[in-house]
Amino acid sequence: MSVKILGTGSYLPPKVVTNDDLARTLDTSDEWIYSHTGIHSRHVAEADDCTSAMAAKAARKALEAAQVAPADIGLIIVATSTPDYATFPSTACLVQAALGCAETGAYDLQAACAGFVYALEQARCWVKVNAGKKALVIGAETLTRIVDWRDRGSCILFGDGAGAVVVGDVPDEEGPAAHSILWADGNGARFIYREGGTRLPAQPGMLPIPYLVLQGHDVFAFAVRSLAKVTNQLCEKLGTTPADLDRVFAHQANGRIIEAVARRMKLPIEKFYLNLETTGNTSAASIPVALDEAVRKGELADGAKIVLCGFGAGLTYAGTYMQWPYL
Ligand code: COA
Repeated sequence: MSVKILGTGSYLPPKVVTNDDLARTLDTSDEWIYSHTGIHSRHVAEADDCTSAMAAKAARKALEAAQVAPADIGLIIVATSTPDYATFPSTACLVQAALGCAETGAYDLQAACAGFVYALEQARCWVKVNAGKKALVIGAETLTRIVDWRDRGSCILFGDGAGAVVVGDVPDEEGPAAHSILWADGNGARFIYREGGTRLPAQPGMLPIPYLVLQGHDVFAFAVRSLAKVTNQLCEKLGTTPADLDRVFAHQANGRIIEAVARRMKLPIEKFYLNLETTGNTSAASIPVALDEAVRKGELADGAKIVLCGFGAGLTYAGTYMQWPYL
């Protein structure tokens, strides 16, 4: 039996906010943002789009591409740090209802920007032990609703969107070897966080919507180290080398991070898929959105050796080596 990605889909909300737009209310410039991040613009959800709505839109496209009916989905995992509700119900349950799936397990997975890679691995394992069933894995975020638009050191980075894949098995086939690594380092928890959970008792004067807090330098250094480490170790595990990879789909956080990873790994930057110039950092959505774009542009041939790798708050970091579309 082999497990594979049967279809991909994505959704970016139509409203685009450029760096010049931000510079109208913030002490910043297109020149500064682009030179420090590689980002020119990002998509921002308007009032009628929330995380579950964008997730359902991306999921419908993935189901269509996979030619799978909602009734055939047995599991929905939504990787998100920006669920519709603060704690429950899960965004995945809302997606299940929107798609009209029945007898489907549904839950959210919180591993920040590495969440999609974590969720994909869970879906792969679930499909392996539930032969014939299909799973929907979604990364969906509305980060622009939790950033402090007065903080030029963080708000310039983020955008909204959703990406989805359908995972299923092929009974009479043996796919090429794949492998995943899921890691975390909670010592870096304070490098990127959002207050407002139950860590502290409610305080008088507490902000109604706590904002994301970011120590950019620390996260930058961790990102470069962790993406290179995960990709190297995946290649080592599979008995291959990074130079042999056709494409790396790294979390689209900052173009300068990806350039530094390429330098550290002595790989040409062309091996790294880049779309953050017009998306910004969409957190758990960034890898499936990039994958879907590459598939639809015909840039991901069957058998291509790829690594998906992400890092994020936690700190988390994770990667999957696969020969497209086999997991
Ligand atoms: N526009 C203009 N100036 C800005 C600015 C902005 N948007 N943001 C910061 N600055 C200023 C700072 O105030 C500082 O000024 P000072 O030297 O007078 O004090 C200067 O630019 C340098 O700031 P610094 O924070 O050192 O910039 P940087 O090169 O580290 O870039 C980030 C900041 C956030 C772009 C970068 O650290 C980063 O991308 N980190 C990773 C973040 C990330 O990926 N987070 C998500 C994880 S999933």
